[in-house]
Amino acid sequence: MRNRLIVGNWKMHGSMATAVDLIMELEQGMESVPENIDVAVAPPFLHIGEVIRRSSNTRLLMAAQNVSAFEVGAVTGEVSSTMLADIGIRFVIVGHSERRSLFGESNETVAEKFARAYFSDLTPILCVGETQEQREAGFTEDVVLEQMYAIIDRIGIKPLLNAVVAYEPVWAIGTGASASPEQAQEVHALLRSKLASESEGQTVATRLIYGGSVKASNSAALFGQADIDGALVGGASLDAKEFLTICKHAGK
Ligand code: PGA
Repeated sequence: MRNRLIVGNWKMHGSMATAVDLIMELEQGMESVPENIDVAVAPPFLHIGEVIRRSSNTRLLMAAQNVSAFEVGAVTGEVSSTMLADIGIRFVIVGHSERRSLFGESNETVAEKFARAYFSDLTPILCVGETQEQREAGFTEDVVLEQMYAIIDRIGIKPLLNAVVAYEPVWAIGTGASASPEQAQEVHALLRSKLASESEGQTVATRLIYGGSVKASNSAALFGQADIDGALVGGASLDAKEFLTICKHAGK
């Protein structure tokens, strides 16, 4: 059985003080989260070092919201995968729809970032998902598979088999309107079957998590689906109680 994984993406919110408060509250609440649930948070880069210093609960894993596609050198403003690994970060979100749309990240750039993370022994969390227009035009499957196959084309299937793939329909992110459990399950089942067919007999340990307006009120129903292995939580991860409730629902 794969441990379920809940990741809180804090995005570009808060201050040093609120980041520290949030990690302290999460730390106190972690004992109520079942042991077999993996929990990670992705604070803003500027806050992550302090969050790591303040957190003594080893069950709270650290994630980064982004990573450079470059390895090292004169690349002003970037943060490399080796720098992330060096300070104890375990996961890196790559290909989030906000980075694709606001910063023009292509499937090729995302694949490069995925590769960098993988070679630094970080676990990439690859985000895939269609826009409202693409869904209405019947292109959901094409879009998510193209996003996933860009990784396989760049680096092969093996790194994906131990990574995390987050299905995040763009129309559900930050809108309050989550995909229904059935809509999410349909895409997760598709991704799982493609991974299995590409796996060349290797174990598919990929965790498929759902993101897009996950909250305490809809998480239990989402986790009731066979192929949903957890959640990538944005807005609701800024509230410790709400986030911990989502984590607890994953244990049922
Ligand atoms: P949301 O964000 O939970 O606020 O919709 C999810 C995400 O962007 O990962």
